[in-house]
Amino acid sequence: MTIKSIIKSTGAYLPEKILTNQDLEKMVDTTDEWITQRSGIKQRHIAADDETTADMAIHAARQALEGSGLKPEEIDGVIVATTTPDQTFPAVAVKVQAALGLPAGMAFDLQAVCTGFVYALSVADNFIKAGQAKRIIVVGAEKMSSIVDWNDRTTCVLFADGAGAVVLEGQDSGKDVSPRGIHSTHLYAKGEQRDLLYTDGGPSSTGTAGHIVMQGREVFKYAVAYMADAVNEALKENNVSADQVDWLVPHQANLRIIEATAKKLKLSMDKVVVTVDHHGNTSAASIPLALHEAVSDGRIKEGDLLLLEAMGGGLTWGSALVRF
Ligand code: UT7
Repeated sequence: MTIKSIIKSTGAYLPEKILTNQDLEKMVDTTDEWITQRSGIKQRHIAADDETTADMAIHAARQALEGSGLKPEEIDGVIVATTTPDQTFPAVAVKVQAALGLPAGMAFDLQAVCTGFVYALSVADNFIKAGQAKRIIVVGAEKMSSIVDWNDRTTCVLFADGAGAVVLEGQDSGKDVSPRGIHSTHLYAKGEQRDLLYTDGGPSSTGTAGHIVMQGREVFKYAVAYMADAVNEALKENNVSADQVDWLVPHQANLRIIEATAKKLKLSMDKVVVTVDHHGNTSAASIPLALHEAVSDGRIKEGDLLLLEAMGGGLTWGSALVRF
C-alpha cells in the first residue's frame, strides 16, 4: 500500500486594507523606488486592529474545506503554521477547528517562521503516510503587522498579513502509485544563525511579543544559497530535472531572491508564481496564498509539478516537490 497526500483544494484570505509604498513614504524615511528596487514590493495587505490571525486562518481554511467538497466530519486534523498567534495559547488551530465544526482530532500550531508552511505540509504528509490521519487542513496564517516595529524602515516596508490553506487527503493508489501528491519534503534549520532574524521579545523572556529585528543583507545571502540547496535536493531525490517543473511556488520575501533561485534552476520567470509585489512578505502564509492565486486564475492545473521552497528565521529552510 502506497499512500500519497494529495492537495485537494486551496483557500486564501487577505485583509481589506491595502498599504502602498506611497503610504509608507508618509510613515518612515523611505521611497517607493527603494522598496520596489530592493524587494519588488509595491503594496501589501494589513489586518484591521481587531482582526486576528485566527480570523484570517478561519476564512482561508473554510474556503479550502468548501473547495474540497468534504464535510467537516471527514477532516481528521488541522495544523496552522504561524509565528503570530492571537494568544500564547490556545493554538490558532483549535479556533479553526471550532469555527469549522471539525470533530475532535489533532489541532496544533507549528512555528518555523517563514518556512512554517513547508514544515506544516511535511508534518501533515507524514501523519497521512503513517496512517494516523486521512485528511488534514494545513494553514499558513500571519499578522506580521503586529510584530513589526513601525518605526524601523528596514523591516516595516517588507512584512504583511494574510492566510492561505490547503486540504490534504491521503489516497491509496494500490499498485499504481498515484502520480499526484506530495513526492518529498526537505526540512532544515541552523540554530547558530538565529540572531540574524528574530523578535526582541517573547513570553518567557520579556513577557511581550517583541518586534522583528533582521540583518537583511546577511539573511538575503543565506536565503539564496539555502533555497538553491533545498530545491536541488528535492529534484535529485525524485530524479526530476528543473525543466520538468511546471511551477516554482516560492516563499515571497523578495523578488530578487526569487529571481536568483529561478536563475540557479535555469527556470524562466514565466514558470514562477510571484505575489510579493502585491502581498509583501506574509511569512508562513506566503506559499499557500501564492498557490491559491495561481490555482484560482488557472495557471496551476491538476497534474502540474510544483516546487515549493522557503527560508526564514531560525534560520530555517525547506522545500517540497508536489504533483498538484
Ligand atoms: O522572509 C524571511 C526571510 N527574509 C528575507 O529573505 C529578507 C532578506 N533580505 C532582503 O530582502 C534585503 O536584504 C532587504 C530588502 C531587507 C534590504 O535590501 P538590501 O539591498 O540588502 O539593502 P541593505 O540592507 O544593504 O541597505 C542598503 C541601504 C542602507 O543604507 P546605507 O547603509 O547603504 O547608507 C539602509 O540603511 O538602504 C538603507 N535602507 C533604506 N532606505 C530607504 C534600509 N531600509 C530602507 C528603506 N528605505 N526602507
